Amino acid sequence: MSSSSSKEKKTVLIIGAGPAGLGAIEQFKRKGFEVVVYEARDVPGGLWNLDNPPRSSCEISFTADGRAIALSPLERSGLPAPVPSPLYPSVTANTPRDIMPYRSHPYPPHTIFLPTQETIRAYLHAYAAQYTESIRFGRVVTRVRWTDPEGGEGKGEGKVGRAGEPPEGHKRWTVEWAPAATKEPTPTPTPTTTVDQFDHIVIANGSDTRPHIPYLPGLWAWRGEVLHSRWYKEAGVFAGQTVLVVGNGPSGSDIARELGLLVVDQSKEAPRRVYQSIRSPPRTDSATGATGAQSSKESAATQSPSTSQTGRITLTNGQTLDDVDVIIFATSYYMRFEFLRGEDMPWGRWPVIKPPPPELVGSIEVDGGSRAYNLDEHQLFYYPDPSIAFLLLHAEAIPWPFSEVQARAAAYHWSAGGDLESGGHPGLEIKPFADEETDGHGVLVLGHPGEFIYTENLLRLIGEGGEEEVSADGKWGAWPGWKKEIRAAID
Ligand SMILES: Cc1cc2nc3c(=O)[nH]c(=O)nc-3n(C[C@H](O)[C@H](O)[C@H](O)COP(=O)(O)OP(=O)(O)OC[C@H]3O[C@@H](n4cnc5c(N)ncnc54)[C@H](O)[C@@H]3O)c2cc1C
Ligand SMILES: NC(=O)c1ccc[n+]([C@@H]2O[C@H](COP(=O)([O-])OP(=O)(O)OC[C@H]3O[C@@H](n4cnc5c(N)ncnc54)[C@H](OP(=O)(O)O)[C@@H]3O)[C@@H](O)[C@H]2O)c1
Repeated sequence: MSSSSSKEKKTVLIIGAGPAGLGAIEQFKRKGFEVVVYEARDVPGGLWNLDNPPRSSCEISFTADGRAIALSPLERSGLPAPVPSPLYPSVTANTPRDIMPYRSHPYPPHTIFLPTQETIRAYLHAYAAQYTESIRFGRVVTRVRWTDPEGGEGKGEGKVGRAGEPPEGHKRWTVEWAPAATKEPTPTPTPTTTVDQFDHIVIANGSDTRPHIPYLPGLWAWRGEVLHSRWYKEAGVFAGQTVLVVGNGPSGSDIARELGLLVVDQSKEAPRRVYQSIRSPPRTDSATGATGAQSSKESAATQSPSTSQTGRITLTNGQTLDDVDVIIFATSYYMRFEFLRGEDMPWGRWPVIKPPPPELVGSIEVDGGSRAYNLDEHQLFYYPDPSIAFLLLHAEAIPWPFSEVQARAAAYHWSAGGDLESGGHPGLEIKPFADEETDGHGVLVLGHPGEFIYTENLLRLIGEGGEEEVSADGKWGAWPGWKKEIRAAID
């Protein structure tokens, strides 16, 4: 028995109107779905909207076993609210204009080669304007679970999904959402939640959400200020201070370079000194480059520092630093799906997030992880019930056109049924991901040419994937060679 009559349009909820969620709207609409997007912010475009939380709102706490947790006061309050953006005003794209945007929506003419944050935000807002009627702003999804066989409000004990269908008149997924709290109210009111049901869910809630700070013995007793790069907004606020930047990804490189340039320029806003702790060689897209800033760096450790109560920081190359005022951890983020609760089905039985392994984080209870589990071989569909999909979990792929292809494949699959019973689109057979054991982010890293192998394969499985980027009959294929060359050059 179907959850909706054959004449009724199937409903899709997209969680998040960031670049991944926005790009998905078109893909589902063109396949005849009734699409709605719930977005916690009051604007589209996800993290490309700067919100500049002050440095003082980075609150660091430590767990009993000494792990640092960096959160804003609003996050600590537990109220449903948008996650602060990690962007800083000076950021420019590290993905060139010709390969960054959605496939059928290039940047406006004369856009500079590496667009600025403001150009990108404006592009996304203009793109979203055509779908405003589908987006509900200010709604935070707080819970997603299988619809209970008894009628939609219960615990969902496993009678649906692999084992069956929701009761007649109900849709497969029950969703709760609450209005977004925009600031920390005192006293805290209990937000009212609303319950809806959908046939399909697309999770596009973003990966750069929960700050990750590595475990460093003694950090809890260190006398200086600890920040995560999410709170870095401008170099000038570190005037006169000695700063240690940990990490050499795009965030760490940008921050170290901006601080270093102020030193080189002998600006009155310059920090007194800048150190950078580097564990691995830089990737091309995060290389510090010939800016002159390198010369202001005092050291490059081979791994993270460890700290002590005296204020001394010991680097793994044996060097000690006694003069650091601020450590900025540019050490990335955990992915997090706080609305997939362990007490609900199917997440309790087949979790998507498991705590990172002890060698990475010790015994800390981290409410996020560095990879997802129980997904299909494309790490797109949830294997126990492929009527739900996750966009853009992968790393080192050009994100927007990549997630657009993922959404296209999900729309094709679901338009042909798309659950285990109906089998979905012929060709796109849902198989489990081969590696459920390996911990860490590595299983999601694609790079070049991995991302093309992935997307072109996915397109072929849904009957597209020819040689032309967009064929005369509207099918999508491989990127043209000149775009691939640009991609290869930034890998
Ligand atoms: C500093 C920085 C620089 C970057 N530079 C580039 C670049 O140059 N080029 C590039 O292509 N990419 C870049 N990226 C990668 C960036 O992540 C992607 O461009 C893109 O923003 C990812 O889109 P997304 O929709 O997955 O996530 P996001 O942009 O994070 O959007 C997710 C959306 O989901 C909403 N949401 C989350 N949870 C809920 C919920 N429970 N209920 C309702 N709504 C929810 C959020 O409010 C948000 O609007 C950068 C990332 C960072 C951190
Ligand atoms: N447009 C831009 O220019 C721009 C700017 C900033 C961010 N971004 C994007 O934002 C996303 C996040 O970037 P990010 O730089 O914040 O994160 P990232 O790319 O994941 O880099 C994290 C850095 O932290 C280091 N690190 C992690 N754990 C560590 C530990 N225990 N000890 C020491 N070092 C550790 C990593 O070292 P290893 O390499 O050794 O793991 C790496 O250098 C990426 O998608 C990136 O492309 C883009």
